[in-house]
Amino acid sequence: MKKATAQAFANIALVKYWGKTHGTLRLPTNSSLSVAMDKIQTTTTVEFSPDYDADQIIIDKDEFASHEAERVIVFLNLIRQMAHTSLKAKVVTKNNFPRAVGAASSASGFAALSLAAAASAGLDLSEKELSILARQGSGSACRSVTGEVSVWHAGSSNETSFAERVHLPAEWNLTVLMTFTDDVTHKKIGSTQGMALTQETSPYYQIGVEEAELNVVRIQTAMERADWMAFGKVIEDEMYRLHALCMTTTPNILYWSSTTVAVFQRIYDLREQGIAAFFTADAGAQVQVLCQGKDAARVKQELAAVPGVREVVTCGVGGPAKLIAEDLF
Ligand code: PMV
Repeated sequence: MKKATAQAFANIALVKYWGKTHGTLRLPTNSSLSVAMDKIQTTTTVEFSPDYDADQIIIDKDEFASHEAERVIVFLNLIRQMAHTSLKAKVVTKNNFPRAVGAASSASGFAALSLAAAASAGLDLSEKELSILARQGSGSACRSVTGEVSVWHAGSSNETSFAERVHLPAEWNLTVLMTFTDDVTHKKIGSTQGMALTQETSPYYQIGVEEAELNVVRIQTAMERADWMAFGKVIEDEMYRLHALCMTTTPNILYWSSTTVAVFQRIYDLREQGIAAFFTADAGAQVQVLCQGKDAARVKQELAAVPGVREVVTCGVGGPAKLIAEDLF
């Protein structure tokens, strides 16, 4: 078996996934839609080999917790089952951004791992099959396999729940300004636990799921018509929908920091000045601001001036996960 290395971009959900109908298969309660960010990526090298007595997992040198390594091993077991092998593997992963702070690290992580591990184990999978595989590592990872703007069809079984790319108007030069706030502590409640609590306890859960399905249709219609304002309206509605569900969970989950809200307010101010930028946030205090390429420099300058903002990374739209020649070990 050969060594294989893959790279995948993180994605930010514009229509959010927050809840499952099947735990281990990670089938979602609703479809979702995301854009991949071309500056935020994971690189992973995998080698299944008789030389290894046990799985060896290294994430960002030594900066990882044992439960993160265990989740990778569970995923390797799935690959071994598919490839009919009992060989142990070495996995080395490198992220170019802080993990577990709402920067969608599990999405790029499991997308890169799926592609590298499948290649190392000699599995010949289509993009759809890879998306199905990555979903079982981390739900949102199925959208990082396909990249660009992807819709994850909720489906009702392992075979019917996968991501595929959809149309994005090229003339927008869609730009995502990844806004890192001072609050880069690891999330208090991770997405797996958070969504389970929301599903069990938020009185608004079911209506939220129905609204998400409608928003997938609304946002795709907006992109087909190249209607930027309609696109932005769905993005912010979806951001508030996710966080309203979190806030109405028992125990209440508040992912925002004061800087998160200050960024939202700065974007409202900019819109009053005629700059149509829109914000979103996943399960963390970081904010992603979407704008058209022509406005990116101005919006970035405004964001960088918000007290508490540490760094703003300008991202274009990232492509699908891919194999690369440079191995990490
Ligand atoms: O795939 P997970 O377990 O990292 O969950 C992702 C959840 C959100 O990022 C909040 C929403 C989404 O659709 O990516």
